[in-house]
Amino acid sequence: MIIEPRTRGFICLTAHPTGCEQNVINQIEYVKSKGTIDGAKKVLVIGASTGFGLASRITSAFGCGASTIGVFLEKGPSAGRPASPGYYNSAAFEKHAAEAGLYAKSINGDAFSKEIKQQTIDMIKEDLGQVDLIIYSLASPVRTNPNTGKRHKSVLKPIGDVFSNKTVDFHTGNVTEVTIQPANEDDIANTVEVMGGDDWEMWIDEMKAAGVLAEGAQTYAYSYIGPKLTEPVYRKGTIGAAKDHLEATAFKIQDKLADINGKAVVSVNKALVTQASSAIPVIPLYISLLYKIMKAEGIHEGCIEQIQRLYADRIYGSDMKLDDKGRIRIDDWEMREDVQAKVDELWAIATTENLSDIGDLKGYSDDFFNLFGFKVDGVDYAADVNEVVEVPSLK
Ligand code: NAD
Ligand code: NA
Repeated sequence: MIIEPRTRGFICLTAHPTGCEQNVINQIEYVKSKGTIDGAKKVLVIGASTGFGLASRITSAFGCGASTIGVFLEKGPSAGRPASPGYYNSAAFEKHAAEAGLYAKSINGDAFSKEIKQQTIDMIKEDLGQVDLIIYSLASPVRTNPNTGKRHKSVLKPIGDVFSNKTVDFHTGNVTEVTIQPANEDDIANTVEVMGGDDWEMWIDEMKAAGVLAEGAQTYAYSYIGPKLTEPVYRKGTIGAAKDHLEATAFKIQDKLADINGKAVVSVNKALVTQASSAIPVIPLYISLLYKIMKAEGIHEGCIEQIQRLYADRIYGSDMKLDDKGRIRIDDWEMREDVQAKVDELWAIATTENLSDIGDLKGYSDDFFNLFGFKVDGVDYAADVNEVVEVPSLK
């Protein structure tokens, strides 16, 4: 079939298998171009199909030469109905891993559930014995807590006060004022349930009890801080409360791993266009200004550049350069004082009329479509493609 993008608000309902494969190939080529990393050899990535998790899987495999198990929740294809992009990404990843002689298997299901954790542990036992690196990179709007059976929904709201600021609809370029009502106590608790550290800790507890963590095993989860501008809706909002919880959980897990000389650390990553971040108000305007500035400075990075640098320079480099809260700061270039000063300047004057000049609206929009395999260089979108592309290990 011929597959075209069909968008509804901040989501795209279709995905292109060839475009997704090309994205994966580009990421593999980037990692290979940076040379080998003396790092993990057996890796579990939770949230492995898109964004930072996919980049982590690719860096593990093609940078470190690692065997990888990837867990994700994606929709498979059926005749006439394309799969979700993470499914096509994973199909492409497994195909290219196999060609490179690298072990790669995937598990498609709810990572929050006991069943998927058990299935993953069984697969590790059977195929790898133990893992030495666990990347936790889930981004989800909902979670059913397996202990209580309760389903929680996360929200993106400020805490305390009403928040008003500029935002942009990146499809139209319209800059408008958005007003968000503050969260109530339930909103905060629910968001912490979904995006906090509880599930990360469950994964590590269960893996440790099952004996599948190697001596010296390390685990990393990803967080975000960002500028003052987005603080009310991000770091000091409901999602920020969840990130505070996630970061605190790293210390709890670290203590639990002391007897195997393990490590649990949070890496604060850069703001990037992913399915998760497109849905957060105000962030798309911030990102389009940030991209413009970082590209002009020659310091722009996508997920793969961020994660390759995280592995090469920090996790397996000579110095993790932890901040005063024990976090890796691979958002260091985003947070540079001169970069943020320029964002502030542009933010103050941004309007519908000038945004395509002062901001990188096109870069935002292209990245968004790229997430779904569209507008990828070198792909012939007029060509008939088979939408039924399976992840080899899930067949
Ligand atoms: P993403 O949406 O690209 O990836 C989310 C992953 O989680 C996918 O692999 C998806 O399949 C998987 N997933 C979601 N629900 C699942 C479930 N129930 N069971 C199994 N898998 C499930 O998101 P991302 O932007 O790469 O975010 C990953 C992490 O990085 C998050 O913690 C996020 O807060 C953090 N982060 C993101 C940014 C950013 O700007 N995008 C910046 C810094 C940190
Ligand atoms: Na991810």
